[in-house]
Amino acid sequence: MARNQAQLGLFPAIFLAILMFECMVVAASPSQNISALLVFGDSTVDPGNNDYISTFFKSNHVPYGRDFPDHTATGRFSNGKLVTDFLASALGLEPLVRPYLDPGLTDSNLESGVSFASAGSGLDNGTSSISSSIPMLKQLAYFEEYLGRLQKVAGNRTQDIISNAVFVISVGSNDYIWTVYGVSGNDSKGNLPDYQNLLLGNLRSSIQRLHEAGGRKFTVAGLPPIGCIPLQMTLAILQKPVELVERKCIETQNEDAKAYNSKLQAMLASLQTELLESKVAYVDLYSLLMDMLTNPHNYGFEVTSRGCCGTGLMEAGPLCIGVVACQDASKFLFWDAIHPTEAAYKAIADHVLQSVLPLIL
Ligand SMILES: *[C@@H]1O[C@H](CO)[C@@H](O)[C@H](O)[C@H]1NC(C)=O
Ligand SMILES: *[C@@H]1O[C@H](CO)[C@@H](O)[C@H](O)[C@H]1NC(C)=O
Ligand SMILES: *[C@@H]1O[C@H](CO)[C@@H](O)[C@H](O)[C@H]1NC(C)=O
Ligand SMILES: *[C@@H]1O[C@H](CO)[C@@H](O)[C@H](O)[C@H]1NC(C)=O
Repeated sequence: MARNQAQLGLFPAIFLAILMFECMVVAASPSQNISALLVFGDSTVDPGNNDYISTFFKSNHVPYGRDFPDHTATGRFSNGKLVTDFLASALGLEPLVRPYLDPGLTDSNLESGVSFASAGSGLDNGTSSISSSIPMLKQLAYFEEYLGRLQKVAGNRTQDIISNAVFVISVGSNDYIWTVYGVSGNDSKGNLPDYQNLLLGNLRSSIQRLHEAGGRKFTVAGLPPIGCIPLQMTLAILQKPVELVERKCIETQNEDAKAYNSKLQAMLASLQTELLESKVAYVDLYSLLMDMLTNPHNYGFEVTSRGCCGTGLMEAGPLCIGVVACQDASKFLFWDAIHPTEAAYKAIADHVLQSVLPLIL
């Protein structure tokens, strides 16, 4: 993670000590025998399940995957790898996480873990219907089907694999982007606290269900600063009179994300106490992305207010087809108007390896 320059000057010894501690933690993690990564959620962690279902929300076409090995558009909503790909390779599992719906999964893919995530999905079953993506409930049903397949491959090692697997859950943004702020006339707009409870209730019961199936180690991402997503800023401008047009983060949406995140953290802490032998860690995407937005140069970013594909203001998924993309995506925080670049995902993965995984080992 990037650190403030003044602090560096004032406390070099402390900084060095922290750095050394972090290096030791990193070095320690692969030896802890994480058996697999099992992934649930939305486009931030979907390596291409949407390629196999009927939905308009796909990215298995140019310019997606431009910086991926062999420049293939796999269905990942980025120019390259996702956080979970970086984690799987750093943990010595496999170089990439496969989508569960891939018909070509090998026994070894099944043993080292797969992703059940689907771009466009949310914690509210209704949000997934808007994009015809795979809702969380269906992702859990696929996981239970997966357990049967794993049993055939791994036999009596299956329970060990599941209890030493890291479950990654990254979901919730779509419930805000499409259902709360979108055009659907949903009740949630008028009663956000109730809607937060509905979302968190669904998340809680999902984790309980994974725990009943033998899961013990969970990492759960909070919401990013939703008001700073390029598409959200564009939509806000379109709703304003011309003289008030100014492109900046929407504070109310960021406040909503922070409110949700603090309830989420409290819920995860209580869940860890309640679920036998469980470790449940929160991934603070909000602070990480805020740091990228306020100190872009620490990450090599030159552009943070629009995506690399097309104008960067509106385009995502099929709207990126046939438009010109920027030359060097590593200078951008966002790849399209919604999703981060591989460079941003790499920085998030580094944070998870250094500061989150040690909490659940
Ligand atoms: C990790 O796994 C290896 C091989 O499967 C085993 O030999 C070793 O004892 C395990 N280490 C821990 C800390 O469980
Ligand atoms: C979720 O939505 C699907 C259809 O998309 C429906 O079949 C299912 O019953 C719903 N489940 C709940 C709990 O609302
Ligand atoms: C809308 O709000 C209700 C709760 O009032 C919720 O159950 C439903 O799933 C919501 N979502 C959508 C996309 O309509
Ligand atoms: C199950 O475990 C036993 C010993 O505990 C072992 O001998 C046997 O080979 C294992 N079976 C499978 C299918 O792994």
